[in-house]
Amino acid sequence: MPRQLYVGLMSGTSLDGVDACVVDLSADHAQVLAGVHLPFEPQLRAALLALNAPDNDEIHRTALLGVELARRYARATQAALADAGISADQVTAIGCHGQTVRHRPELGYTVQIGNPALLTELSGIQVVADFRSRDVAAGGQGAPLAPAFHSFAFGSAEEDRAVVNLGGMANLTWLPRSRPVTGFDCGPGNCLMDLWAERHLGVPMDADGDWAASGTVDQGLLARFLAEPYLASPPPKSTGRDLFNAEWLSAHGADTVDPRAAQATLLEFSARCVSDALEQHCAGVRRVIVCGGGVRNLALMQRLSKLCEPVPVVSSLTYGLPPEWVEAVAFAWLAKMALEGTPASLPAVTGARGSRVLGAIYPNRHSRK
Ligand SMILES: Nc1ncnc2c1ncn2[C@@H]1O[C@H](COP(=O)(O)OP(=O)(O)O)[C@@H](O)[C@H]1O
Ligand SMILES: [Mg+2]
Repeated sequence: MPRQLYVGLMSGTSLDGVDACVVDLSADHAQVLAGVHLPFEPQLRAALLALNAPDNDEIHRTALLGVELARRYARATQAALADAGISADQVTAIGCHGQTVRHRPELGYTVQIGNPALLTELSGIQVVADFRSRDVAAGGQGAPLAPAFHSFAFGSAEEDRAVVNLGGMANLTWLPRSRPVTGFDCGPGNCLMDLWAERHLGVPMDADGDWAASGTVDQGLLARFLAEPYLASPPPKSTGRDLFNAEWLSAHGADTVDPRAAQATLLEFSARCVSDALEQHCAGVRRVIVCGGGVRNLALMQRLSKLCEPVPVVSSLTYGLPPEWVEAVAFAWLAKMALEGTPASLPAVTGARGSRVLGAIYPNRHSRK
């Protein structure tokens, strides 16, 4: 049987850059053949961040950044293909998440940019993009979409598991053996810690969580963070930078404490968002599988492991998928589902009226022949 090769492209809310993976989806599992991360430089990051809030001439800037992103997606794709020793014509499709600039499902829309038409043109590969809109159109949150993939890749007949993706936001997928898969965004993963490190240290992230680990949690500030109504609101729910942003930090008084203590508190907050969600919604969980860039934040991992005791917290690598590529692989898999015409959204997760085939397909052929 010929190999079914896909490329997954993810650029998430943390705005750290683009992850590109070449994935073999032929068997009943996903095998990563190569993965490449192309970081966004500070100017691009700032330009994308600025699009998350109302400002002048947004349509023009959105279009220009879409073009810029498509070029980078194409470059990341080419680099990953070169690493894997695979040519473009061997690839069935690219699954491209795009860059979220607004996520307002309650108003009926979510916007991921990245000019998929240009990406098709530049890569010579058909592209599946805009995965979230159909679920929003069907009354859902449009997020998270990874749970169906998490179920495919990490589901077990032996034990009830949870998967936690620590990206800009933290998303949880609950995989109980005898009930439907559920999942939702728990709250911020890395995005607030990144913002604070940028503001006070001038670096894009608190590497390994060292700065946070050197500070002491401010219990008053933590209590104000934990009082955020989003945390107690029942799933289905999803969130993003529309809520957890610089204004949110100011409104909760982050500026009123020592910056180091605030960073320690933000780390504790991220860990608590996850552990509280596990406690409230995943009774009987036997294993927590973690993925996303936050797995590299050692202080965060230590704290989360402690809060989850005695339930083990293990990296997705244990199951053959490096944590930094899981989301990109999920979009490669979602592209495959789209081309097969398989509905891939989970109404129990997103709150939509039903499961839908997700994504818009940009064929690579120029004509009918
Ligand atoms: N060595 C590290 N130490 C601390 N945090 C890290 C490290 N490496 C990555 N991260 C965190 O992971 C984030 C990127 O994670 P990612 O899964 O790509 O999120 P997203 O999908 O939102 O882009 C970075 O913004 C950073 O906060
Ligand atoms: Mg990322």
